[in-house]
Amino acid sequence: MDVEQLKLILAGIEQEARQAVQAAATLEALRGVRAKFLGKKGSLGQLMGTIRDYPPEQRGLAGQTLNAASQAVTALFEERQKQIESSEVAADASGAGAHDPSLPGVRLPLGNVHPVTAVQWQIEHVFQRLGFTVEAGPEMESDYYNFEALNIPAMHPARDMQDTFWLTNGLLLRTHTSPVQVRTMEKFGPPIRCIVPGRCFRYETIDASHENTFHQCEGLVIDRNISIANLIAVMRLLLREVFQRDVKVRLRPGYFPFVEPGFELDMSCLICGGSGCATCKRSGWVEVLPCGMVHPNVLRYGEIDPHEYTGFAFGLGLTRLAMMKYGISDIRVMNAGDVRALVPPSRMAGPTIVERN
Ligand code: DAH
Repeated sequence: MDVEQLKLILAGIEQEARQAVQAAATLEALRGVRAKFLGKKGSLGQLMGTIRDYPPEQRGLAGQTLNAASQAVTALFEERQKQIESSEVAADASGAGAHDPSLPGVRLPLGNVHPVTAVQWQIEHVFQRLGFTVEAGPEMESDYYNFEALNIPAMHPARDMQDTFWLTNGLLLRTHTSPVQVRTMEKFGPPIRCIVPGRCFRYETIDASHENTFHQCEGLVIDRNISIANLIAVMRLLLREVFQRDVKVRLRPGYFPFVEPGFELDMSCLICGGSGCATCKRSGWVEVLPCGMVHPNVLRYGEIDPHEYTGFAFGLGLTRLAMMKYGISDIRVMNAGDVRALVPPSRMAGPTIVERN
């Protein structure tokens, strides 16, 4: 066979391919037709295998001719493929195709989160609904904000209540989230409604119930006519949302230099329902929330007039709350990086669950 004959054969094949391609109505049919022409054993594929039989001086031309033909045929397929695809999309859009938009989507699995994160998200959600902002402050803090501005001057015995990591640069690792109280007063002025979730540090020996690194969530409300009744109402709402049921609370006097009066808020033990068990040390109550009315001195440090404004503050132990909520009895689990302690979305109560379909 010489090149002239080859050209005739190719013209025939191209003609045949054109008809077959037009006749293919679906992508699958088109794929079959394509194999018949362009596949290794297809008509063009087989001709490719004959190039080496040409005399050497014709081989180049034969190769070019074949390539040109196979490109032309490939173009036919591609054009038809586009046509079929767009008509399938159109059929879907008109409801005639296989696509049914009412079918449930594919559920994407979400990663699990740390118990503290789970509780923190939930608390943020509860408070944001009440119009609170979520604030933050530095973990490396000054003596002024961590102690002084909270009515704990140098040499005050209350400093011993919180063993502190002092840094060589004169700062310290904050021992609580309370320093953000005065920072927020300075930043916004009254009225204030905010919470401050964050990491805190204390120079503690670690055991089952003590950690040197843990999380708290501070709360601060300042406005005209804020009273203890407001404090109790907000605390009860918070506990009800976190534990997803009504919890009984009681206030006991508690001493914290930055509040006056200060309280320890207890809730009825959820394990025994208040009748007394090992968890609540037979008392029926568990201590969950230190709180109180913001001390006038602290308001003054924040440049707020205590004759015009009052407020309440609370310091929620986020780590402890997460342990209670998720039944973790050893605090060392919280910083151990053990993935078994993580909380799957299905165990994150209430409205904080964000699941995409
Ligand atoms: N900052 C205190 C602590 O870590 C907890 C606390 C007590 C915070 C009473 C408050 C409060 O806002 O009113 O021990």
